[in-house]
Amino acid sequence: MLVEVFLFAVLVFLLWKTFSKPPGLPPGKWGLPLVGYIPWTSKNFEEQVMDLHQQYGNIFLWRMGTQLMIFINDYKLMKEAFSRAEFIPRPDWDVLTLIDEAPHGIVSSSGILWHNNRRFTLRQLRDLGMGKSSLVGAVQQQCLKLRETLAKGAGTAVVINHQLHLSVINIIWYMVASRQFDAENKRLHEFVDLLSDLVILSNRLAIKDFMPWMQNVMPDFLFKRLIKYHEMMDMKEKFLQFFREEVEEHKATLDPNHPRDLIDSYLLEMEAKKDDPETTCSERDLMFLMFEMFSAGSETTSNTFTWVCCYLAAHPQVQRKLHAEIDEVLPSGALPTLAEKSRMPYTEAVIHEVMRACSLINFGVQHMAASDTQLGGYTIPKGAVVSTTVTAIHYDSRYWDRPEEFRPERWLDENGKFSMVKEGFLPFGVGKRVCVGESLARMELFILTTMVFQSFAIAPPPGKSVNLTPDLSGFFFRKAMPNEFVFTAREQ
Ligand code: HEM
Repeated sequence: MLVEVFLFAVLVFLLWKTFSKPPGLPPGKWGLPLVGYIPWTSKNFEEQVMDLHQQYGNIFLWRMGTQLMIFINDYKLMKEAFSRAEFIPRPDWDVLTLIDEAPHGIVSSSGILWHNNRRFTLRQLRDLGMGKSSLVGAVQQQCLKLRETLAKGAGTAVVINHQLHLSVINIIWYMVASRQFDAENKRLHEFVDLLSDLVILSNRLAIKDFMPWMQNVMPDFLFKRLIKYHEMMDMKEKFLQFFREEVEEHKATLDPNHPRDLIDSYLLEMEAKKDDPETTCSERDLMFLMFEMFSAGSETTSNTFTWVCCYLAAHPQVQRKLHAEIDEVLPSGALPTLAEKSRMPYTEAVIHEVMRACSLINFGVQHMAASDTQLGGYTIPKGAVVSTTVTAIHYDSRYWDRPEEFRPERWLDENGKFSMVKEGFLPFGVGKRVCVGESLARMELFILTTMVFQSFAIAPPPGKSVNLTPDLSGFFFRKAMPNEFVFTAREQ
């Protein structure tokens, strides 16, 4: 009898040890083994995270399946974490690597590969002309095309997303491969469709990342169907085929003294390092890097500009001030370059206030703890995934006076000069992995905003108002609802 009682007590103890949250971890929802707290999640992801912040404060955990997630909504803590070396790695999620045998490029990689690719891309963006004429010229070209499309629909209710998306993708094609497709080009349309499929298919892969054990308990064919494995592999191959053709064409026409774009520069770097046993360059890596320029750089920029349109249509008094500044600095329809930026503080203020208010990438891109460590007085175990909650920070009244108000003036100092408030603002992330394309995105947003509103006024269709509630159905983006706008040509 005594033995049975003892065994029962040991069993209870072992079960308790397995089920309970280890000491020292942040407060939060631990749930059950294998499924974590997922079965109790009924709200959409963002609402759930905001509720948990309300309940637990600046830092909390939420076990999703077998993945321990840590959420932070305190700017200083966030900055501290993402500036520390042990939080540089990315989680080894298939949603980031697209089920490739190893991570490539920048977004999904860690270690020396990440370091080399990040340095290469930053240098490349700088050399290709952040602020120099060629890339600015390509952005202007695409904005002119967007203006032509908007002019055709002027006076009627339109949704702008499609042409805007094409223009932004063409800017990246120019940067990567010196290409700009016509809006009617079949290849461009195939490519845009692929990018849309990517977002849909990636969501399915999350099942594998959060509950990897399902792979072992389900028949292989059923699991692959569940995560849409074959569709994903198909899509990845189609992307790689697009890029392979470009790389081959570049190899055939490469002039080492005049690199034209990112592909040329990468090929030259690969050649220069071909005898270096430590080289991380490869053609497959180049193709993934190209892929990331599109996946990280297109939806982000076009969705931000869509939000600019929404906020301006909803705030005619802000729009009037913006028009006045554009007309003063760029009389007679002159095209903007980055040289005008410092003379257009209100335009800058509008763009920044939109980025704050929309908090487009609410959870940033996740980082992973490389080792057991301490943060905010809690233990963060190796392998835990750390995520920001950008909305909570962008609406934190410690940094933002009356945060619910859309008020570009908060970005201007007493002399009307644009002042870049850094505390509490992180649309591009913060720390060691801050967005590589930040300066390109800023340049695109500045030229898009100036050129579109130089030519047009925007308003909701008569009798309607702009819906500023974000669409929370996706995990990655807080997109704007599909609002219709009426663009009216302005006298210049
Ligand atoms: C408004 C537009 C954009 C926004 C809001 C944005 C935002 C972000 C955010 C939040 C991150 C994650 C930072 C982190 O891991 O902590 C990121 C990373 C990244 N972004 Fe952007 N981005 C934008 C445009 C672009 C563009 C135009 C490109 C390139 C063409 C780009 C390329 C990248 C890359 C490669 C990374 C990964 C950096 C790394 O892992 O080291 N982004 N971006």
